[in-house]
Amino acid sequence: MTARQGTNPTLVIQKKRDGGELSRDEIVGFVSGYVEGTVADYQMSAMLMAMFLRGMSDAETVSLMQAMLHSGKVMTLESIRGPKVDKHSTGGVGDKVSICLAPLVASCGVFVPMISGRGLGHTGGTLDKLASIDGFRTEMDGRDFERIVRDVGACLIGQTSEIAPADMRIYALRDVTATVESIPLIVASILSKKLAEGIDGLVLDVKVGRGAFMQDGKGARKLAETLVRVGTRAGKRVVALITDMSSPLGRCVGNALETREALDLLAGRAPADLLECTVALGEEMLLLARVTRNRRAAREKLMTAIRDGSASRTMERIIEAQGGDPRVVSDPSRLPRAPLVMSVQAPRSGFVATIDAREIGLSAMALGAGRARAEDPVDPAVGIEILAKPGEAVKKGAPLARLHVRTPSPAVADQVLRAFRIGPRPPRPKPLVIDRITSRTR
Ligand code: URA
Repeated sequence: MTARQGTNPTLVIQKKRDGGELSRDEIVGFVSGYVEGTVADYQMSAMLMAMFLRGMSDAETVSLMQAMLHSGKVMTLESIRGPKVDKHSTGGVGDKVSICLAPLVASCGVFVPMISGRGLGHTGGTLDKLASIDGFRTEMDGRDFERIVRDVGACLIGQTSEIAPADMRIYALRDVTATVESIPLIVASILSKKLAEGIDGLVLDVKVGRGAFMQDGKGARKLAETLVRVGTRAGKRVVALITDMSSPLGRCVGNALETREALDLLAGRAPADLLECTVALGEEMLLLARVTRNRRAAREKLMTAIRDGSASRTMERIIEAQGGDPRVVSDPSRLPRAPLVMSVQAPRSGFVATIDAREIGLSAMALGAGRARAEDPVDPAVGIEILAKPGEAVKKGAPLARLHVRTPSPAVADQVLRAFRIGPRPPRPKPLVIDRITSRTR
């Protein structure tokens, strides 16, 4: 605790341990004491466990989020005249939506300042996918970030040590103290980074299902509602969509493969589920930005930007501004490619009922596309292409998936095959967008 607060950290931990509600001053004092070094790692760890076990009120969550937000630089993006809206996904398998959504929405007149993350475990990260574009830079200071958002409409970077540094340190502690899976801690962590971007509005994609962080509908809904309530209390326009992540999104999993699929979407060639997810989130962003009056007009604007090529041209400008090779947009064959392709064949005829997103994510990780520990490198070229999606008919021996690999990987091919469930009849279609949560949802 800082001398200014004059409260003993042990007493604040004790109050939370015993189920008390902490005041704003207690939380702000504790977090700033941690950043300044007067609260030790072991005290923060004890506090995180108390918060995890006792839960937190909305007021406490807002205070924690604001303490972490103000531990670093909070951008105002003052030089940008126009609506600033971002999207955040809680992460999934094959989720390359940010890469196509940012240029798409920017080409419709919304500024998109986007701070993204790296992949960990079975889920991928936008930064790893973008790194497959030759020269693309995701590290820069706040001034360059603001200039690029202003000049080309969007910029996609990683969290720097300037942005919510308290969250960076606290997240590392949560990772090793079994305190990650707490809704208030997740909400404070996500929003502290997103609100540092200087946005007016935020659209959240809360994924649910085997490939998601939240595997059950009840947990996903609670997370979405808390994100919307706390973000709204912090003065932002916030909407959340709950979307299905039981099967991988789109047809590609792996960094360069996913970047290619996102570029394909901008060129008007996208799997239906990826287009649906991107456009649903884009509609929400246009509505929050108030650039269109209704959903139908928002959808029309987005589809026109794909059809007339303006979304692809915006992507070229973003890539060029961030130091990458913009020719990749018209010629995705410039992306890294793996030297070998292996086919996974259907063991029987029927219909693909489900594809276990988690198993596909783990398989891609085993090929080298993802990382088990934060410091692991990733291979941009390897990954999995899904050739038969849920609902599609397959014949015995026909290819279900292609593995893009460096060396023959029969064990991973078996794992991919086990992820497919083939039934005698087409499965009942499932909606991709399961629910929409706004500040008025009860
Ligand atoms: N993502 C974050 O940024 N923070 C969390 O706590 C969990 C997921």
